[in-house]
Amino acid sequence: MSGTRLDPYSDRYAARTHGMTASEIRALFAVVSRPEVVSLAGGMPAVTALPLDAVGSMIGDLVSGHGAAALQYGSGQGDPRLRERICDVMALEGIGVGEDPAASPDNVVVTVGSQQGLDLVTRVFCDPGDIVLAEAPSYVGALGVFQASQAEVRHVEMDADGLIPQALREALMALRAQGRRAKFLYTVPNFHNPAGVTLPVERREQILALAEEFDLLIIEDNPYGLLGFDREPLPALRARSAERVIYLGSFSKTFSPGLRVGWVYAPVAVREKLVLASEAQILCPPSLTQYAVARYLDTQPWEQQIKVFCELYRDRRDATLDSLTALMPDGVTWTKPDGGFYVWLQLPKGLDAKVMQPRAIAARVAYVPGVGFYADGSGQRFLRLSYCYPVPDRIREGVRRLATVIESELELRETFGGIDPATLHGAVSGSHGGAGSPSARSAAVEPRAGGNTPTADAR
Ligand SMILES: Cc1ncc(COP(=O)(O)O)c(C=O)c1O
Repeated sequence: MSGTRLDPYSDRYAARTHGMTASEIRALFAVVSRPEVVSLAGGMPAVTALPLDAVGSMIGDLVSGHGAAALQYGSGQGDPRLRERICDVMALEGIGVGEDPAASPDNVVVTVGSQQGLDLVTRVFCDPGDIVLAEAPSYVGALGVFQASQAEVRHVEMDADGLIPQALREALMALRAQGRRAKFLYTVPNFHNPAGVTLPVERREQILALAEEFDLLIIEDNPYGLLGFDREPLPALRARSAERVIYLGSFSKTFSPGLRVGWVYAPVAVREKLVLASEAQILCPPSLTQYAVARYLDTQPWEQQIKVFCELYRDRRDATLDSLTALMPDGVTWTKPDGGFYVWLQLPKGLDAKVMQPRAIAARVAYVPGVGFYADGSGQRFLRLSYCYPVPDRIREGVRRLATVIESELELRETFGGIDPATLHGAVSGSHGGAGSPSARSAAVEPRAGGNTPTADAR
């Protein structure tokens, strides 16, 4: 390497790489894997709750008994047997049931996790400068895909019941007034990442009605829908509209993220494009992991296993909410998920989760600061807690440490008044204050104005 430039290739990169930065979560990975840190950061499923011996021998049998196919290239659209079984899984959320015409394996495209599905859908629909509507906050991996495709994200407000239909209407009206339209709405209706909230049935109907009225396409991303703690799954948006909704599914949270198997369920014309785009990207999804998932669904009590996961996550959710209620100081609020992996927490005014993060790490607790979940760089007062991975005692300890850090930040704020907390951190290093007052706070995803700033270095 010659010259003074750090990166000798910098004048060669495509424009779309310029906004690419490591996500908050990736940056945290090295730190949070240290054993002394309680990580409430990563959304890693509790895979050790799987029957690992049974899964292991099943995969061994696949190689020894069916290696000629399982170790070979396969169809670009995905293994037909797996696509059939995916239809059975989708039926649990009303897809292909009742009034919905039978789900067809022909319209399923198997992907390398739903993340690849998200990338394919975005490639197929978005040119640079196109507008995508997405909840505020939104899944960080989706924002990364939209940014890489140079789409412009416009956020739509949520509250404790998910996306607000009136806010969606206003966003659509504003676009119409500008003579523009969104390529699609990206939404996570169940146990939202990061907000933890779920869209009730009435809102689903309202959002589908808006999709009809404004000729809107919806991308329904649903990796957590079967992980409800207290009730049967709600009907998918896709179950109510075959033409307006493209559905993304995943086995990452109900079986294993390490196998990287997800899918897209799309109308036939879109499916064609998705298959072509996927073949250009990866030729075909991995045969071995597709066979493994299909065999797992064929031979193992997978619905029972999902119940096992749900019970485990319910205990961890309870440990999180109970300790938040017992320990957090006044002014801190959080959502109350009834499924999935995440609690979304709002700090009192004047605190900044990103600025506070080094102190939290020093106190041996990790979370994900909220800013990464907004395309416009807002969300400073928010942070995401994941309860899926640590055992309840570790969660309680993690929340205790976090409460102490927040107390200490509040003391700093009291002492130094309106001074920017970022400045204080340079000037003051101190011990962490005592435990907070025990009072429960209500769930809220702070209503925000729809942002329209193109993605910058939000992560
Ligand atoms: C909302 C959402 N969509 C998509 C994904 C990607 O999942 P997969 O492992 O199927 O690629 C995740 C993973 O955390 C997620 O939370």
